[in-house]
Amino acid sequence: MLGGPRILDGYGRVAIITGAGQGLGQSIALEMLDEGKKVVFVDKSKQKLQKLDDDIDEDLKNKTMFLTLDVRDKDAIHDAVQKIITKWGRIDILVNNAGIRKSTKVEDISLDEWESLISVNLTGSFLFAQAVINIMKEQQWGRIINISSFAGQYGPLTSGAHYASSKAGQLALTKILARELSQDGITVNAIAPAIIQSPEMEKLDEKELDEIIHNIPVGRIGEREEVSKLVSYLCSEISVYITGATFDINGGLLMR
Ligand SMILES: NC(=O)c1ccc[n+]([C@@H]2O[C@H](COP(=O)([O-])OP(=O)(O)OC[C@H]3O[C@@H](n4cnc5c(N)ncnc54)[C@H](O)[C@@H]3O)[C@@H](O)[C@H]2O)c1
Repeated sequence: MLGGPRILDGYGRVAIITGAGQGLGQSIALEMLDEGKKVVFVDKSKQKLQKLDDDIDEDLKNKTMFLTLDVRDKDAIHDAVQKIITKWGRIDILVNNAGIRKSTKVEDISLDEWESLISVNLTGSFLFAQAVINIMKEQQWGRIINISSFAGQYGPLTSGAHYASSKAGQLALTKILARELSQDGITVNAIAPAIIQSPEMEKLDEKELDEIIHNIPVGRIGEREEVSKLVSYLCSEISVYITGATFDINGGLLMR
């Protein structure tokens, strides 16, 4: 049949984006809102979420939820999932984007600092995925995207061993989840950006950034929209045959 109705096709899908207060997460969340999805902006910063809530068009307000929580907090995640289900009755998409980065050398990393990066970047992704998979299984439809990093594939570029280890851990988590959920209409993929324009990246000093750009074949850092469009594709109906994959988005910095 030509031109028949397409199942939901973006409209009506409910997406959770963690770390949506700024940077990549914000761009991913706004892209999904643009496509007609209902979007849950999650961030530990109430202030960033409040600003977004204030700035968003009045006619989109009924498609947004803003939840302040720390992705390390299992109970808070559970409460958030309950709130979303009460309001919208389903959860289709989870983008584990919240992350922190440090560039401390191994000999100087304290145990607290190590545990803090692993728990936000890796444990947070695990906890959120664990909290939504039964809902996605019931729906027999789900998309989980873990925003990992080039650092998790290649080792640190501008980051420490704790950051790279947490990002490598997300790649392993992606593959295991993809395998475990493959019979339930749920796909799980990872994205591995190298350097993408963001408030965090603006903290790099100019000399360091110039050196990095010098090594990127495409000759520039990436744009946030280039990542958010890729996430959108992986969350679409047509991407159903892609699971357990890692998508490099790095201007050719790593070719494999
Ligand atoms: N920007 C890049 O070049 C780049 C490259 C590779 C990977 N990444 C990954 O992409 C993701 C986003 O990067 P970004 O540059 O936009 O970061 P960013 O620092 O600009 O934004 C991260 C957001 O996550 C939130 N956050 C931090 N810890 C949290 C927690 N415990 N609970 C809830 N929210 C928390 C912050 O408040 C912030 O709003 C991160 O996982 C990062 O590792 C970014």
